[in-house]
Amino acid sequence: MLARVSLIDRYAARLPVTARTPRLTLGEGSTPLVRSPRLEAETGVREVWLKVEGMNPTGSFKDRGMVVAVAKALEEGASSVLCASTGNTAASAAAYAARAGVRCAVILPAGNVALGKLIQAMVFGARVVAVRGSFDDALALARRLADEGEGTLVNSVNPYRIEGQKTAAFEVCEDLGDAPDALFIPVGNAGNITAYWRGFVEAASWGLAGRRPRLYGFQAEGAAPIVRGHVIEKPETVATAIRIGNPASWKGALAARDESGGAIDTVTDDEILAAYRSLAQEEGIFGEPASAACVAGLLKAAPRLDLADRTVVCVLTGHGLKDPDTALTIEAEMTDVPADLDTVERAMGL
Ligand code: F0G
Repeated sequence: MLARVSLIDRYAARLPVTARTPRLTLGEGSTPLVRSPRLEAETGVREVWLKVEGMNPTGSFKDRGMVVAVAKALEEGASSVLCASTGNTAASAAAYAARAGVRCAVILPAGNVALGKLIQAMVFGARVVAVRGSFDDALALARRLADEGEGTLVNSVNPYRIEGQKTAAFEVCEDLGDAPDALFIPVGNAGNITAYWRGFVEAASWGLAGRRPRLYGFQAEGAAPIVRGHVIEKPETVATAIRIGNPASWKGALAARDESGGAIDTVTDDEILAAYRSLAQEEGIFGEPASAACVAGLLKAAPRLDLADRTVVCVLTGHGLKDPDTALTIEAEMTDVPADLDTVERAMGL
């Protein structure tokens, strides 16, 4: 079997890489686009596709941008990278830094990072610092450390991150044979919606797609600075990945929304958890809560949008296994019994 082509090799002509850029890879990108007849039936949309980004090497879409950012840092002679993160960026930075043989330091908001992401950052050997503050506080600190020369900043304010992440839009166009009519995506620091828009614009300009989709972004109700139009000092949501009050790519998100003719709206934690549960139990796809925000958004928006003969894509940004604590809040049955046939039969309801 052929090894998967690395993201940098696959899209070298469309990325800011040169022959000197190291061909760093952990097998990122080329993630599945899975059709959802259930969501089609529920929403009345002709075609609903799920872009399953949890299938990336560290379980989130961050790997697309991180591989380019760390490869460029290596090319430029860096010996350390650093980032602030709600968890996934940290896991991805730590993995690619380990692969590249450079040091990695991550700054996290204490108490608000899903356990699996924290474990990833630690196991990949990053220096992990939890600050008593928000993600926004952590990002401000990371920017200052980078300015002081302590390492290359690999948050999505690093332009190579957005460049790498735009490749997801290319894949969607390749798999569908054109851009979809609409893309539904969770919004936190707003790098990903910015990256998808750039990818779709580029894909249309070189003929990979014949049109550009409308972009619909979703923030959690308690962490919705872009929807409210002002910074949120104390953002709150069960979807800790998008618990952000002052997104770094705010302007990029507004441009994606306005230039595409889309919208950015909120979904409640209850809507997020309902979509999270039904994705798993009726679809067999375990995304993390932030990922489910865009499906909750599709369910909320579909009645108001004219999507009956449209094709839409929902971006499932991260893997559900990263957040066992939220998973354990889902009512599920497990019975603990002696290893005896009669008892087991009874416990199974047979
Ligand atoms: N979904 C997941 C699973 C995420 O981890 C993030 C962001 C988003 C959606 C939102 O993407 O920030 O580009 O708008 N996680 C960042 C992190 C903030 O530190 O891992 P965005």
